[in-house]
Amino acid sequence: MGQNEPILGERLERVLFDQGTIRECIAGMGGRIAQDFHGEPLTIVAVLQGGALFMADLIREIHLPLRIDAVSVSSYLGGTESSGKVTFLQEKLPNIEGRNVLVVDDILDTGRTLSAICSRFREECNPKSIRTAVLLSKKIERSVEFEADYVGFEIGNEFVVGYGLDYQDEYRNLPMIGVLKDEWIGRI
Ligand code: IMP
Ligand code: MG
Repeated sequence: MGQNEPILGERLERVLFDQGTIRECIAGMGGRIAQDFHGEPLTIVAVLQGGALFMADLIREIHLPLRIDAVSVSSYLGGTESSGKVTFLQEKLPNIEGRNVLVVDDILDTGRTLSAICSRFREECNPKSIRTAVLLSKKIERSVEFEADYVGFEIGNEFVVGYGLDYQDEYRNLPMIGVLKDEWIGRI
């Protein structure tokens, strides 16, 4: 980083959720999930890359026997608008046959990503059940009919970074979630 570059968090215009708020929210969600599954085993599938951070924190709040796995998809191609097409970046899907599955992603936007993943899992993987959890949900009209079973926070229609969420593959390591200053859009 050059001498005049601000530290990463100072590139934010606004912080929406700080580390403590995120932690509390995830603890509550983990408790609800554990209750809902009544002690049944579970496989948590993270949507990479962003969903990995959320999964890592969430699983430590779910007191059930569980396994973890991941699925790699791409829809954004690095910008701030969804490309509209969900591409699976791996050949082998998780082994979830006969399992209760919870697919976790950082954010629900158009709904295409989670909808495509759940459809593909149902068609090809024969799970016992599928539910979904997102840390954030944008309050917008979805491009496809889809809502998540567990939602941490609802936000407006704005582009956010941090806690797994990226802009051009950066900012995922910010511990808080916020909106980038305009001057940092279009440059890294
Ligand atoms: P959807 O398919 O439009 O619901 O988008 C979900 C995916 O788009 C998420 O997994 C994120 O990777 C990405 N995404 C959507 N909104 C944002 C955002 O505000 N910041 C960063 N990534 C986002
Ligand atoms: Mg994503």
